[in-house]
Amino acid sequence: MKPLIVANWKCNPKTLEEAKTIFDSVKSVQGSEVVICPPVIYLSALKANGAQDVFWEDGGAYTGAVAPSMLKNMGVTHIIVGHSERRKYFKEKDDVIAKKINAALTCGLKPILCIDKLSQLPKDLDQEVIVAYEPLSAIGTGKAYGLDKAEAMRVDITRATGDKNVILYGGSVNAQNAKDYIHQAGFQGLLVGGASLNPKEFIDIVKNVCYC
Ligand code: PGA
Repeated sequence: MKPLIVANWKCNPKTLEEAKTIFDSVKSVQGSEVVICPPVIYLSALKANGAQDVFWEDGGAYTGAVAPSMLKNMGVTHIIVGHSERRKYFKEKDDVIAKKINAALTCGLKPILCIDKLSQLPKDLDQEVIVAYEPLSAIGTGKAYGLDKAEAMRVDITRATGDKNVILYGGSVNAQNAKDYIHQAGFQGLLVGGASLNPKEFIDIVKNVCYC
């Protein structure tokens, strides 16, 4: 199976022009399955396949919300759910995140659930959910998590959820360390934040993890 590399642009860049430049530079990179999650406002112009969040209702009187079907109809296949920044700045709790996961699955979207501890895994995870292990100390700090500790967590997540779930590592991934998380720590993919905004770095990440 090809590694799954997910680009999380977060709240960047500031203009559509810049977004197009980054997107056009990386969209054809080969070797891994690539999902690019720009801010939702750029989705339709870029025809990107990932989004950073989703609402749990599929439409109605919910000012400012973006429904799963809207994203699906725009060509989105994957949705990041429960990112630590959503938990911290938007006060999202596990019950809200569970509703978002269900809404995404109901709509045929693949949720990428971000966790930094096992207790954040939903109790009854019987459907296929991609789990991204993102230790808080490693997110946006340039201090990627130790390989042994990351691998131990990957094993624990597999034990808790079964073999069906793809497990990603996220947190200060760069072109130098990307391969180790896949080939040594056994993750099936990566969630890349800061480095995904640098086309050369992101392309190197995708190429370096390739089994080809
Ligand atoms: P980072 O972010 O790669 O900039 O550490 C990862 C993430 O928050 O998903």
